[in-house]
Amino acid sequence: MADALGKLYTSTAVVTMKARGKTNGITIAWMTRVSWSPPMVAISVGKTRFSHELIAESKAFCVCILRKDKTEVAELFGTNSGRTMDKFSHVQYTLSEGNFPIPEGTIAYIECEVVEECEAGDHTIFVGKVIREKLLEDADPLIFGEHTLL
Ligand SMILES: Cc1cc2nc3c(=O)[nH]c(=O)nc-3n(C[C@H](O)[C@H](O)[C@H](O)COP(=O)(O)O)c2cc1C
Repeated sequence: MADALGKLYTSTAVVTMKARGKTNGITIAWMTRVSWSPPMVAISVGKTRFSHELIAESKAFCVCILRKDKTEVAELFGTNSGRTMDKFSHVQYTLSEGNFPIPEGTIAYIECEVVEECEAGDHTIFVGKVIREKLLEDADPLIFGEHTLL
């Protein structure tokens, strides 16, 4: 059944982070650019997620925007927790210039430093200032919305 909130379409990304000598990634659809100058990006992360702890500690994250055929990567990072699984042992990846893991199927990555944290119900909005960005492949992103099958 269609609803109004389902009409909010966004790109889907794996947001990666490093803390406690570990790396982790989380599938994020609630994300958008929020400032032109300096460029800033906001992501909304559930307070119970392992990634929430790691981003709150490290104050940095990398948005890896997935290509439209990469639903299995979105599913891997979006249905398992880094508390109990090393998700990066199940997918090929490279490292960004800033040493964040970049999973296969990433068309563009954006490295950010957290400059603001805002409460939003059961989520926290982490606002990140863009430190570095790289387009890897000029292809269409995986779109999240009412027709997303995950
Ligand atoms: C398509 C998709 C989009 C998602 N978007 C978000 C999101 O925007 N924010 C969020 O907190 N969780 C989102 N999730 C859920 C998390 O990715 C999921 O709970 C994940 O297992 C948390 O991993 P972690 O415990 O390692 O942080 C999404 C999941 C899927 C499949």
